[in-house]
Amino acid sequence: MKKTNYILGIESSCDDTAAAVLKDNVVLSNCIANQKIHQSYGGVVPELASRAHQSNIVPVVQQALSIANIDKKQLSAIAYTRGPGLLGSLLVGSTFAKSLAMSLDIPLIEVNHMQAHLLCHFIRNEDRPPPEFPFLGVTLSGGHTQLVLVKSHFDMREIGRTRDDAIGEAFDKCGKVMGLNYPAGPEIDRLAKKGKSDAFEFPIPKVEGLEVSFSGLKTAFINLVHKNKNINSNFIEENLNDLCASIQKTFVTVIVNKIILAKEKYNLNRVVIGGGVAANSEIRKVLGGKVIQDKWEVFLPPFQYTTDNAAMIGIVGYQKLLSQQWGTMNQTVSARLSL
Ligand code: KG4
Ligand code: ZN
Repeated sequence: MKKTNYILGIESSCDDTAAAVLKDNVVLSNCIANQKIHQSYGGVVPELASRAHQSNIVPVVQQALSIANIDKKQLSAIAYTRGPGLLGSLLVGSTFAKSLAMSLDIPLIEVNHMQAHLLCHFIRNEDRPPPEFPFLGVTLSGGHTQLVLVKSHFDMREIGRTRDDAIGEAFDKCGKVMGLNYPAGPEIDRLAKKGKSDAFEFPIPKVEGLEVSFSGLKTAFINLVHKNKNINSNFIEENLNDLCASIQKTFVTVIVNKIILAKEKYNLNRVVIGGGVAANSEIRKVLGGKVIQDKWEVFLPPFQYTTDNAAMIGIVGYQKLLSQQWGTMNQTVSARLSL
């Protein structure tokens, strides 16, 4: 009879401390401790993030085990995020994972956070089987914006990227200038639903090939807000919904144009999206339209697996366990780990 594997996933690459337990490819628990402390600073403060991880990690892991209703002695392996991310944050998760794996005498598995954002689609989903290979992977997060040619679980090649800001970062910075809390992406999405997306026009950046750029757009947005605020101090309040709808529409157009280009260049019809910005309703709507009109095959993660979570780390752990790709105790974390 096939052995059942219980995998503990640990994620601590940025400001969320997360732990999940998987029974093979099925998620039994998926717990996250968000760090509210960064809101008042308008962005993540690395030193505060690593301190908060230290206080959160034990309770979050305990909660994940308790919801999964298993004892730590039943665990088969521990998967943790090795990078990319904030060094101090990564160190907390990796040190905890290594210590626990050593004390339980079970294998350790290291996971690349950006691979995990795409491989979350391999978590068992009653509604849909996982994507077949090859596919165009698109990671849209606060730290990364990448187009990836994915030929198998661990054969991933970056074919395009942002040359400056990540799309989530651009959302957050535009939100900050409008006085929205960090992270502003979800709030812009919510306000945009009540606004007109053609109220303000922003130039689509002219960037060759599969590179993308968001910083020029972000600056154009910030300049527009400052200029109009000088003329009318209530400009933001009076136009908030329209500003959100217009900039969101432009960001989505930029990335969808590049997805179209990459699909054509690599002759792929299957598009798999991952990362926090995959929760955005405009990108979901536009890609949904491509499925109906142009017969694209599009995979969007369930909401709980869009922003940072440990279930996605656990599923990569499961895939690596099947192919016996074990980590080692002397592997160091890497802030800039590439795919
Ligand atoms: O993947 P993620 O949780 O963390 C990183 O690995 O960076 O992504 C976080 C990013 C933030 O910039 C946040 O504003 C953005 O995802 N985000 C959204 C939405 N939900 C989260 N951006 C636009 N619309 C959303 N609904
Ligand atoms: Zn992420």
